[in-house]
Amino acid sequence: MTPLRYRVRRRLTETADTVTLVLDPVDEPIVAPLPGQFTMMYAFGVGEVPISVSGHADGGIVHTVRAVGAVSRAVAGARTGDVLGIRGPFGTDWGVPPGGDLVVLAGGIGLAPLRPVIRQAVARRARFGTVAVLIGARTPADLLYPHEYATWRAAGLDVRVTVDRADMSWTGHVGVVTTVLGALPVDPAATTAFVCGPEVMMRFAARALVDRGVPPAAVRVSLERNMRCGVGLCGHCQLGPLLVCRDGPVVGWDRAAPLLAVKEL
Ligand SMILES: Cc1cc2nc3c(=O)[nH]c(=O)nc-3n(C[C@H](O)[C@H](O)[C@H](O)COP(=O)(O)OP(=O)(O)OC[C@H]3O[C@@H](n4cnc5c(N)ncnc54)[C@H](O)[C@@H]3O)c2cc1C
Ligand code: FES
Repeated sequence: MTPLRYRVRRRLTETADTVTLVLDPVDEPIVAPLPGQFTMMYAFGVGEVPISVSGHADGGIVHTVRAVGAVSRAVAGARTGDVLGIRGPFGTDWGVPPGGDLVVLAGGIGLAPLRPVIRQAVARRARFGTVAVLIGARTPADLLYPHEYATWRAAGLDVRVTVDRADMSWTGHVGVVTTVLGALPVDPAATTAFVCGPEVMMRFAARALVDRGVPPAAVRVSLERNMRCGVGLCGHCQLGPLLVCRDGPVVGWDRAAPLLAVKEL
């Protein structure tokens, strides 16, 4: 439960409200996180928030943080050389299968926990059939990691990008991310899908994938609930029978669907 000290090695501005922090352990490191897992990030004197791992770098870990409230603002405001606390890693991972087709579907900050899956697919490209990456953001300026899309495409990934609202520079697709799901060249029975974004988007995306024949258990969503302890003790993250910090955040749509169908559960 004690946060370990991590120093900010590098701070990258991603969008107007989102930064990526590359952090190195000051003392002992946490156990290496798996794609999909999260840590509790502590801004000393302000508070702790759950943040997914968005990468790793030479013994360090990478987090992408959107400033939405007091604690995330303090974490995202950390400068190079500042020290933050980290506990974890916690929760379930995406469980990337050894082969088959992959669909990665991300809305907004939801691309952060999915980037390790994409990088894994790039590194092991030959093992998979179609790897489709569908990315949605509110505006072109809100797109995360746009400089990486060319690398992902060059590795043979089918990367499709859409925005809710275009600007003068945008020549790409406009519409919510689920509108680019349509004619994906995947074999539904051999597909594993990874979905992360606003809850309403995950519901529509998961239903569309299941309607296309992807087995519900093979559609994995990452759930978000308020968290305090991160280790299944306090009950803050309860969603029906699940404690999201322990049984999630990644769960199959077969388990998530009945829970997300209940209003204000
Ligand atoms: C497992 C898990 C993984 C997460 N991974 C990431 C991550 O990788 N990067 C990241 O930036 N965030 C991530 N989050 C969300 C992050 O934990 C919250 O944004 C943070 O806890 C908000 O705390 P706060 O004190 O800054 O704001 P609060 O005071 O709690 O909230 C301030 C305002 O923002 C709203 N708000 C809270 N959370 C969100 C949200 N997620 N999106 C939009 N509005 C919100 C609240 O309703 C409120 O109006 C994750 C959450 C979970 C549960
Ligand atoms: S955050 Fe305490 S039980 Fe999940």
